[in-house]
Amino acid sequence: MKSKIVDLIAKEVEGLEVSDIEGLLEIPPKPELGDFAFPCFRLAKAYRKAPQMIAEELKEKFNNVDFISKVEANGGYLNFFVDKITFIKQIIDVASKEDFGSTKEGSGKCVCIDYSSPNVAKNFHVGHLRTTIIGNSLYKIHDKLGYKVERINHLGDWGTQFGKLIVAYKAWSSKEQVEKEGIAELLRIYVKFHEEAEKNPELEDEAREWFAKMEQGNEEALAIWQWFKDISLIEYKRVYDLLGIGFDSYNGESFYRDMCHDVVAELKDKNLLVESEGAKIVDLEEYNMAPCLIMKKDGSTIYATRDLAALLYRKRTYDFSKCLYVTGQEQKLHFSQVFKVVELMGYDWAKTEPVHVPYGLVSLEGAKLSTRGGNIIYAEDILNEAINKIKEVIEVKNPDLEDKEEVAKKVGVGAIIFNDLYNQRIKDVSFKWEKILNFDGETGPYAQYTYARAASVLRRAGVESVDNDIDAEVLSDEFSLALLKEISRFPQVVTDAGERLEPYIVARYVIAVAQAFNKFYNNCQINVEDEKVKKARLKLVCITKNVLKSGLDLLGIQCPERM
Ligand code: ARG
Repeated sequence: MKSKIVDLIAKEVEGLEVSDIEGLLEIPPKPELGDFAFPCFRLAKAYRKAPQMIAEELKEKFNNVDFISKVEANGGYLNFFVDKITFIKQIIDVASKEDFGSTKEGSGKCVCIDYSSPNVAKNFHVGHLRTTIIGNSLYKIHDKLGYKVERINHLGDWGTQFGKLIVAYKAWSSKEQVEKEGIAELLRIYVKFHEEAEKNPELEDEAREWFAKMEQGNEEALAIWQWFKDISLIEYKRVYDLLGIGFDSYNGESFYRDMCHDVVAELKDKNLLVESEGAKIVDLEEYNMAPCLIMKKDGSTIYATRDLAALLYRKRTYDFSKCLYVTGQEQKLHFSQVFKVVELMGYDWAKTEPVHVPYGLVSLEGAKLSTRGGNIIYAEDILNEAINKIKEVIEVKNPDLEDKEEVAKKVGVGAIIFNDLYNQRIKDVSFKWEKILNFDGETGPYAQYTYARAASVLRRAGVESVDNDIDAEVLSDEFSLALLKEISRFPQVVTDAGERLEPYIVARYVIAVAQAFNKFYNNCQINVEDEKVKKARLKLVCITKNVLKSGLDLLGIQCPERM
């Protein structure tokens, strides 16, 4: 509809490009002001007339357009009222398509998304839960927009900490203990290493030696390192399974260890490397940034060096149009430095294509969480706690429900995901169980419950789908129309969320649809005698159900058919 109206205006108005008109056309704040409004203020100069007069004159030119019921001039705006029946038929048609909301804007383009990326031998904590949830949603959104997406888990699996772990393992642990306790044991000995090293600084040298051995390919060192990594991955994968999330690549920091030499050589060739207190850095003073450390005194490379190698490798391998990095905002400087250094190496694409996608902190106030000792909060425990709490609710409210376990899992996990994605990324996320798990608020369970309600209406009517041949007149009441308008926004919502890298735009949309649906449900009886009315309303239930499912899927949330 929007583009049809833009075309109409373009034909009648001189001096404005189609893209100008597109940008100017507004959706009025109140339905009395029509469905679209075109401001005439910009035309005043060219037409040498007051905007309201221009609107009055232009209005006459749209008298005989079939899909427009009336046009009014009001306060310098041209207000377009779209013919309801045409609108209803059109939205029923598009929203019934399997791929409603998909676009081709990304076709032929690849986006790399670097997310989750926990640090091996450390627990998967709540911060990593955020990058995992946000990254997965950005993947789904880009996929819907037609991009090829490469989901990359840039594991923190290389660095001096592994030298420390090897020393600590040899001194204070055993094979059996690590196998039994997993990451918890690795954490324990890592903490112990730091305590002991305070008293005995020689341990630090030993650790450095072991890491140097790893970098030189020493078999014993690498075998222990690989084993720690495998142990860690088993635990991470439990979290990914709970979330229903996967990756295309687990190439973490260790994958780039050999490529770092080439990066250092290239930096040297391009005269970018500077010596500073024995270390090698790239000076970024000119750009108001701290220097980017490339190589330590002892010749070992660091986090930033591996990120330089990774960015260049990804460009070569995937030829991305964008490479997104989803991490906390405390890494802002790190990524600015890395992108700048690549740009200084002469790669112009580094100015725009790599993008840091930061997010806010998690605050646990009021979330009484069972910790496994040491006050460490595991993402897995939070997810399981949410699932258990939902299970209790089901036991009280609907004890005969089939597949209770499965439903509790979808709803509990969905609640956590939704709570994470309901606000702008940069906002902090808080954990208040009463709020997160509320079936009535602006929550995951509320959206899923609304979906299940739509599913149950269709089940009771004995239909799975309804064809498009319906009486549009039936859906011209206030409630049906309001719901259809919400539904019609879906493609624009997906595009906006992709452009701004903000899943909350989808989350808010899902709630708006659910609320509009519940109003419709409470005001328009569906299962009525009149077949014509029943069919049209069931059709509206069908398309609502589909759009709720697609919307929640973009967030990474699954929908149970019954709740
Ligand atoms: N492992 C890092 C951390 O836990 C995140 C890695 C993000 N990705 C990257 N390419 N640097 O903070």
